[in-house]
Amino acid sequence: MGKSIISESLCLRRANDSTRRTFLKQAAMGTAAALVFPTSSVLGANDRVRVGMIGVGDRGSDLLEQVLALPNVEVVAMADVYSRRREAVKKKVPNIQTFTDHRRLLDMKDIDGVIVASPLHIHARHFLDTIAAGKDLYSEKTMTWSIPEAEKCLAAATASNRIVQIGLQAQSSGSFVDAKQWIQNGWVGKVTHVESWLSRNTPHGHGQWVRGVPSDCTAQNVDWSAFLNGRPDRPFDPYRLINWRLFWEFSGGNCTENLVHQIAWIMTVLELPLPSAAYMSGGIFSEKDGREVPDTIAVTFDFPVDIVVTWQSTFSNKHYGLGDRILGSDGTIEHHLEERAQYWPEKINRTHGEDTLGNTPDQGHMRNWIDCIHSRKQPNAPAELGYRSAVAVHMANLSYRSKKRVTLEEAKAYAPEY
Ligand SMILES: NC(=O)c1ccc[n+]([C@@H]2O[C@H](COP(=O)([O-])OP(=O)(O)OC[C@H]3O[C@@H](n4cnc5c(N)ncnc54)[C@H](O)[C@@H]3O)[C@@H](O)[C@H]2O)c1
Repeated sequence: MGKSIISESLCLRRANDSTRRTFLKQAAMGTAAALVFPTSSVLGANDRVRVGMIGVGDRGSDLLEQVLALPNVEVVAMADVYSRRREAVKKKVPNIQTFTDHRRLLDMKDIDGVIVASPLHIHARHFLDTIAAGKDLYSEKTMTWSIPEAEKCLAAATASNRIVQIGLQAQSSGSFVDAKQWIQNGWVGKVTHVESWLSRNTPHGHGQWVRGVPSDCTAQNVDWSAFLNGRPDRPFDPYRLINWRLFWEFSGGNCTENLVHQIAWIMTVLELPLPSAAYMSGGIFSEKDGREVPDTIAVTFDFPVDIVVTWQSTFSNKHYGLGDRILGSDGTIEHHLEERAQYWPEKINRTHGEDTLGNTPDQGHMRNWIDCIHSRKQPNAPAELGYRSAVAVHMANLSYRSKKRVTLEEAKAYAPEY
C-alpha cells in the first residue's frame, strides 16, 4: 500500500521489516516460552480460586462485585497506580493486599487468576505480564490498543496453557446462544447484511464519558509514569488520567469501547472471518470539549463471505439504544442490550416459520471464566476472539483517522503511533 492510502500526517508508520522480524522473533520466543511458563498448581473442582486484580476503577469495581458474588473465589490482592482506588477496595475487602506496581501482585505465587481492568493502552502489558507469570487471565476489552499488540498477545496466549477470557460479556448471554441456534437451524437463510447501532445521550454541555477529577488526584497519589506506560513523558495531568478514553494515545474511542462488543457477537454468531475492509466516517459533533475521539460514527465492514456489517453510533440521541439486526433471506434476528433475542420469519421463504422469543438465560461471563479455571475448557471469549474483534475495530479507527477505506492487509502492515 502506498503512502497515499494512509497519510503520514496521521502519525501512522509502516511497520518496517525490522519490526516484523522482531515480532516474528517474539512470536517464536513465545512458543518456546510455553515450555518454561510457570503455571499455577492444578485446582480441584471444589478448590477456592485465588484472584488478583489490576486496575480497579469504574469497571474494575463492577468486576470485583461480580467475582465476590461467586462461590469458592477469594480476591486476595489488587494493584492500582492511584491510592484512592486501593483505599476503596480495602474498604470492601479488608484483608486484601494492595500494590501500586502490578508486578508485585504477579510475583505472588498463590494467585491463580488475574482480572485486568486498566485503561486500554496498558492492556497488552498487563496481558503479557500475567501470562508470563503463569496466571489465568480475565482482561477487559478491547484486548489491545493496536493490531501489533493484539498479535503479540494472541501468540503469548496460544503458546501458554492459560485460561484467557476477554471482557466481551455478550458472548455469555442467552441471546447469543439463541441466535446461534436459530442460524444453525437454518431459520435465517442467506445473510447478506447485519445492521447494528449504539445510541446514547447526555445533558447539554456534558460530553459522554467526561468524569470529574477527584480532589485527591494529585501527583503524590498517582504513579503517573506507570499510567503513561511508555507514552511520551510529561507533567502529571489528572484530567487525562481520569478521562483517558477521550484521547487516542490511551483509547480507541467508541470503537474500542462499544463496537468491539457488538462486532464480536456478530462475528461469532455468524462465524465470520476477519473483515476484508473497513470504512468509517464521523466526527466530534455532539460536544466539542477537547476530546480527540469521534462521538458520531458510521462504520461499514466488508466480510469476504458476501456480508456487509454496518454500525452507527451517536452520543446525542438514545432513542434506539443498542442493537443488532441480522437480516437473512429466510428470517430476521433482532438483539437488544440485555434483552432476549427475537426472531421473525420471512414468509416469502419460510411459510410456516413462527415469531420466536429467545429464552436461554445468561450464563454469566465471570462465572464462565471461573468455571473454566477449574475445568481448563476454553471460555466463551478466548484470546482468539479478543484478537479478531480487536483487529476489526482497529481497522475502523485506522480508516477514520486516514479518511480512507482500509483493507485488512493495509491495517496489518501499519502500527499507529501515539
Ligand atoms: N466490558 C464492559 O462492559 C466494560 C465497561 C466499562 C469499561 N470497560 C473496560 O474496562 C477498562 C477500564 O475502564 P474504566 O472505565 O474502569 O477506567 P477507569 O479509569 O475508571 O479505571 C482504570 C483503573 O486503572 C488504573 N490504572 C491506570 N494505570 C494503571 C497501571 N499501570 N497499573 C495498574 N492500574 C492502573 C487507574 O488508576 C484506574 O483505577 C477499559 O478497558 C474499558 O474499556 C469494559
